Amino acid sequence: MQDLHREVARTIAAFHHDSGGGDVYVRYAYTRGSGALDLVPAPDLTPLRVIIVRDVPEWPARHYAEGVRLAIPSIRRNPIEALNPSIKGGNYLNNILGLMEARNLGADECLLLNGEGKITEASNSNVLFVIDGAVQTASGESGLLGGLTKGIVSELCGTAGISYHETLLSVDDVRMAAECLITSATREIVPVMSLRLEDGTLLEFPIGGGETTRSLQTLYKEYVKDYQERNQESRLFD
Ligand SMILES: Cc1ncc(COP(=O)(O)O)c(C=O)c1O
Repeated sequence: MQDLHREVARTIAAFHHDSGGGDVYVRYAYTRGSGALDLVPAPDLTPLRVIIVRDVPEWPARHYAEGVRLAIPSIRRNPIEALNPSIKGGNYLNNILGLMEARNLGADECLLLNGEGKITEASNSNVLFVIDGAVQTASGESGLLGGLTKGIVSELCGTAGISYHETLLSVDDVRMAAECLITSATREIVPVMSLRLEDGTLLEFPIGGGETTRSLQTLYKEYVKDYQERNQESRLFD
């Protein structure tokens, strides 16, 4: 881990040399290693490490000012038994197909259901709802990647006295939701303004986010600032 930390810092320094500095996006991956092409990697292959550094993606300002439009595509999330979505890998084909379908429906993002019709997540973010004053979101058993940002939101809800539940959610459960939001490390917390169901019904949420979404946005920003101050030793660059 020490070694990885050092190599990431070195790659960021090289990137900053050309870009002049600023916040970065880092993705690291381990490959099977180079060697004879075979489905089963030979035991003597040495995995290669790939570290990608680029500018933090800039999400459209409209997403924050108004909200993201979600649509439920017909494609379903990979079942846990086939390819567990909690594995953070590089294979995003399932997510890409869902996202493309949602885009064709005029939305910005997809909300993927699993094979049983339960809500899972968006293509590369988690989706949360505010129902009866409580934050509710799909639990891991529905088949999703439990994001770090969503984990922090659950902590923030705990300290702010907001009820937070991870549970199996069906489309019917969210019909009466007052708010909807998505979370990811690069986006932080983004309001959702509408959700298109498969039959074309459009659920609408407050433009720019409701009260809970906006207070979670503020709490999250404070959390990040405080985290940075408390963890100076883990800084990857100055
Ligand atoms: C499939 C999927 N779900 C959720 C997330 C959100 O995770 P995090 O909050 O750790 O960025 C991501 C982020 O890449 C993702 O790829």
